[in-house]
Amino acid sequence: MEEIKIGMLGLGTVGSGVVRIMNDHQEKISQITGRRLKIIKTAVRHLDAHSAQEVPGMQITDDVHAVLHDPEIQIVVEVMGTIDQAKAYIIDALKHGKHVVTANKDLIAQYGSELVQIAQENKVDLFYEASVAGGIPILRTIVNSFAADQVEDVKGIVNGTTNYILTQMVAKGVSYADALKSAQALGFAESDPTNDVKGIDAAYKMIILTQFAYGTNVKMSDVTVEGIDEIDLADINQAKSMGYTMKLVGESQEIAGKLAVSVEPMLVPKDHPLATIQNENNAVLVKGAAVGTTMFYGPGAGEMPTANSVLSDIIAVTKNIVLGTTGNTFNGYRQKAALATPDM
Ligand code: NDP
Ligand code: HSE
Repeated sequence: MEEIKIGMLGLGTVGSGVVRIMNDHQEKISQITGRRLKIIKTAVRHLDAHSAQEVPGMQITDDVHAVLHDPEIQIVVEVMGTIDQAKAYIIDALKHGKHVVTANKDLIAQYGSELVQIAQENKVDLFYEASVAGGIPILRTIVNSFAADQVEDVKGIVNGTTNYILTQMVAKGVSYADALKSAQALGFAESDPTNDVKGIDAAYKMIILTQFAYGTNVKMSDVTVEGIDEIDLADINQAKSMGYTMKLVGESQEIAGKLAVSVEPMLVPKDHPLATIQNENNAVLVKGAAVGTTMFYGPGAGEMPTANSVLSDIIAVTKNIVLGTTGNTFNGYRQKAALATPDM
């Protein structure tokens, strides 16, 4: 069977999961795609820290360009994070004719349209399902299942770390600081968790969701953002005593022909569906004019759920390579600006 050779940037929480799923499900993936997928090189920052992490047939290197410029590599998987470096590496890969799969929401939220354009010009695929809501296939769902509908509202819990922290505070009375430490140890938080707790990570995801739902390119300055870093156990207990639970909620809605996009801590009534979302799980409610309100739920962060989304993209790219239909992006980046953003 022919092989598709893959290069990866990053071998942390998500990268390790990708290697694991690829090894565990190699046979099934081959049956589905008609190709054997093999990660032949992975770039990391600190080579010494990975010396014991041997994967048969995979070279670990600290030379990113050895991955980007390897003529055998057809798909580059970027799971290292950062904005400027990752952007330069992805553009380099796309311009060298390599298909790219990334989990990097910071990058896609800020430079998605530019990267999509470069991918299209070079007739290569660029997918990033893992960038929003971890294991929930929400981007594919909006592109495919809402194509003929008009989205009126997107609302949800799109950050696993903060939902984990709030759940631990509400259910177990754990302090904010201790809950954050656990979220970091479990691999849910970003390497620097500032963006998680300040609502910025959720805002990046709402920017991507807004693009997909409405075809409108919003900027961070268009989003009202407030995190959970000022919330303490007293706030949580007061909410509880009033029949509410505290959640960090993102929303993108059309109000009088304009889009309002926000991320903020909210008091959610205990019988609301979002109140039941526990720990690192996420949920996205998408309201369409035709379909009404739908809800998508699942793990929003962590090694295996995120890696599964990355694999779903790698498989989509492989199918396109086999069929000769590459040159795809999610097509969430439509040309038209469907709605204006608010004057802020
Ligand atoms: P980690 O911090 O666990 O891993 C990052 C990896 O990238 C490490 O192996 C690191 O090398 C490597 N790396 C970092 N910078 C460079 C560089 N300049 N050159 C080469 N290698 C580099 O991050 P995660 O796996 O948690 O996250 C990866 C990406 O996935 C991020 O964009 C994140 O936002 C996104 N994501 C993460 C989710 C999660 O649940 N963790 C969920 C959804 C998306 P070294 O090990 O040597 O330091
Ligand atoms: N830090 C992110 C979160 C990872 O907690 O949701 C998933 O994007």
